Amino acid sequence: MQIVHTLADLRRVLKPAALRAFVPTMGNLHQGHLDLMQIARQEADKRAGQGGMTVASIFVNRLQFGPHEDFDTYPRTLENDCALLKANGCDLVFAPSEKALYPEPQVFKVHPPAELADILEGAFRPGFFVGVSTVVHKLFNIVQPDVAVFGKKDYQQLMVIRRMVQQMALPIEIIGGETRRTEDGLALSSRNGYLSAEERAEAVQLSMALKGLAATARAGLASDALDVAAVEAAVMDGLRTRGWVPDYITLRRQHDLSPVTGPCAEPLVVLGAARLGKTRLIDNLEV
Ligand code: PAF
Repeated sequence: MQIVHTLADLRRVLKPAALRAFVPTMGNLHQGHLDLMQIARQEADKRAGQGGMTVASIFVNRLQFGPHEDFDTYPRTLENDCALLKANGCDLVFAPSEKALYPEPQVFKVHPPAELADILEGAFRPGFFVGVSTVVHKLFNIVQPDVAVFGKKDYQQLMVIRRMVQQMALPIEIIGGETRRTEDGLALSSRNGYLSAEERAEAVQLSMALKGLAATARAGLASDALDVAAVEAAVMDGLRTRGWVPDYITLRRQHDLSPVTGPCAEPLVVLGAARLGKTRLIDNLEV
């Protein structure tokens, strides 16, 4: 496995004709990321055999962090990340410095549509999806992958990226990897490392709250008797009484993340974001 830090070095080592399967990350990798890397490896091998190449990027992207968020403290664990990537089928790691990826202020940006990017995560993290879309578009231009793999844990992010690829006619197939969970059900996230032991024990309540909402939705929609807003509010109140500060817990259409207000036969998803102490966790479950 090769590790490069500049665009020039990356371009030198990218095999020209190789099919490229790409996993963009911000590092501090856990098994969820490694699952995505393994999917990339399988796709590269399946589609191109010896001619397949897997690429991972590690870059903590300042553009997608708000002024009071954890950009400065976000864990940077490059050496360990590279060892994990090597053991999980990665051929090439691109780990640029900020200066290498943004040699001058990035004034050209990708602005996803408000109806997708200003709701849910975008409402609580203004500018987040502009930052994500801009860096992912830039990384796509640099790596020129055929396939890119993103986790369903960041459900809205995956949707924004799919729409960007479709609207910009980028010749890249986007694959969504399932969320990896601990045995008690907590979705793996680099930010879980911020939790104290006590908070870690409590953290699973977010996925339990989503499971509860999903079960109520399934039952209520089947019998046409569901007050979605009331159920969402009750689930958020339940978390509040346990000491959480929920941003949203909500039932949406998988197709476009629009709210569900009445009987609905479409595939749905429950999504949630909530703060436990200083840590903000997100999760989702397809219904
Ligand atoms: O999901 C992430 O880790 C980041 O948002 C991404 C896609 C690597 C862009 O910085």
